[in-house]
Amino acid sequence: MDQTSVLASQLCSCFIILFHLTHSRADLPGTWELLVADAGIASMHTAVTRFNTVVLLDRTNIGPSRKLLPKGHCRFDKNDAVLKLDCYAHSVLLDLHTNQIRPLKILTDTWCSSGQFLPNGTLLQTGGDLDGFKKIRKIDPCDINGSCDWVELNDVELTEGRWYASNQILPDGSVIIVGGRGSNTVEFYPKRINGAVSFPFLLEAEDTQMDNLYPYVHLLPNGHLFVFANTKAVMYDYTKNIVLTVYPQLDGGPRNYPSAGSSVMLALQGDYSNAEIVICGGAQYGAFLERSTDTPAHGSCGRISATQTDPVWVTEDMPYGRIMGDMVMLPNGDVLIINGAMSGSQGFDMASNPCLNPVLYRPNEPLGLRFMVLNPGTVPRMYHSTANLLPDGRVLLAGSNPHVFYTFDAEFPTELRIEAFSPEYLGPDKANIRPEILEVPETVLFGATFNVIVSVELPVVEIVEVNLASAPFATHSFSQGQRLVKLAVTSAVPDGGVGRYRIGCTAPPNGMVAPPGYYMVFAVNQGVPSVARWVHVS
Ligand SMILES: *[C@@H]1O[C@H](CO)[C@@H](O)[C@H](O)[C@H]1NC(C)=O
Ligand SMILES: *[C@@H]1O[C@H](CO)[C@@H](O)[C@H](O)[C@H]1NC(C)=O
Repeated sequence: MDQTSVLASQLCSCFIILFHLTHSRADLPGTWELLVADAGIASMHTAVTRFNTVVLLDRTNIGPSRKLLPKGHCRFDKNDAVLKLDCYAHSVLLDLHTNQIRPLKILTDTWCSSGQFLPNGTLLQTGGDLDGFKKIRKIDPCDINGSCDWVELNDVELTEGRWYASNQILPDGSVIIVGGRGSNTVEFYPKRINGAVSFPFLLEAEDTQMDNLYPYVHLLPNGHLFVFANTKAVMYDYTKNIVLTVYPQLDGGPRNYPSAGSSVMLALQGDYSNAEIVICGGAQYGAFLERSTDTPAHGSCGRISATQTDPVWVTEDMPYGRIMGDMVMLPNGDVLIINGAMSGSQGFDMASNPCLNPVLYRPNEPLGLRFMVLNPGTVPRMYHSTANLLPDGRVLLAGSNPHVFYTFDAEFPTELRIEAFSPEYLGPDKANIRPEILEVPETVLFGATFNVIVSVELPVVEIVEVNLASAPFATHSFSQGQRLVKLAVTSAVPDGGVGRYRIGCTAPPNGMVAPPGYYMVFAVNQGVPSVARWVHVS
């Protein structure tokens, strides 16, 4: 852009921001709060633990962060590209009660790696760059007073180096690791005898700017995987390594790294036979190759019933074009689309025009009426930023670092602030219908029936839903392993005290509907979720 158009575009975005500040902020739903002014690191990968702490993870080979490791815990790595003796933390644990931060220590490079919680609550973390390429790491999470930390496994490594892969927990509690740059294969943790298995679909989906990285992987309730890369999608039987269904292509341009929008599987419910996948936004093809930061992102969403015969994509436009948006499954089944930019592509210094307005996607509204523009934030969250549902129904926003190193004097600086966005359902006007969970079992077995006891101030007039939300591994605008399962419930019946209700629930039937592990269980009354309790499902 020449000087005049730069000025014009700056004036224009200032005008837009001013417009929002003066007219829209108070009117649009949702509120923002700053949780941590300086987390010390910019989180590229974020996961919420069952101890109500959050693991935030960046990478090594990046030089100083703004958080020191404890005395005596510096890391020495003769191969580190920037700091051989590195006394800075590149991962931290955040306490959701106090917003305290404790440094964690990773040894190898987790840049563009992947992860997933195992059935016992351990966070598995795989791959990355350089010395992290084939690495497997774990953290057994803890509360903020615990001493948990990253453990790098030395007795086992990935069969292939994985950079930009996606992980998904499977019904038997193992994890599949799909793709990665130069790895058009899948492999498993725990490792299977055949190591990495060729997955030609990923190669077919590749183009001259890749566009097949961080594939969108969703475990369907029929036990197969929905895998989407670039514009293509298949139903994949990983047990036999065969493609069962080739879905139609999704129009509107590439959708995965370096052109990523985001994707969710909508809430599973009823008899769990149907699963709908939604994919929103992305970059124009060529924006990445040309390093064009001002090519408008595309704003279309495609939705498909992945489990039905001859399914087709139904598309719909978002109010904004968006690259690097995060799609977060809210406890009531709505989808929050947040973070990202309106132009450019993924990668260092590749985007501009941050999209500060979150958008709510309400899947049950009629086509054309599904989007609602929400109250804009003030912090651009561009490349390497994350969004995660919290157990209290808020959404945690962290990171943004579109630079190779920590850079603070840039148009889009390395972002160390952590914020929370509260959807409208947490507004004061909803307090008297917000349920509180009084009793719920700590563990439930597949198919078992159990009771949840809730209290609600105003009399309950509708079904109170009981919904399980997984804790995904959020990175690069896709939350690996994200799912929401609505349980079959009875009507809420009064249970003793005033405002006390009992809801009879049936646990998910099997690990295809809900892979074993810890879930946040939310009671949801007229769209308003309780604070979640953690329940182990197996
Ligand atoms: C969970 O399982 C993993 C993999 O088997 C194991 O390494 C880890 O120690 C286990 N964690 C706990 C807390 O038992
Ligand atoms: C951590 O320790 C502090 C100080 O002893 C205590 O007040 C707090 O409740 C503890 N937090 C948890 C989650 O146990």
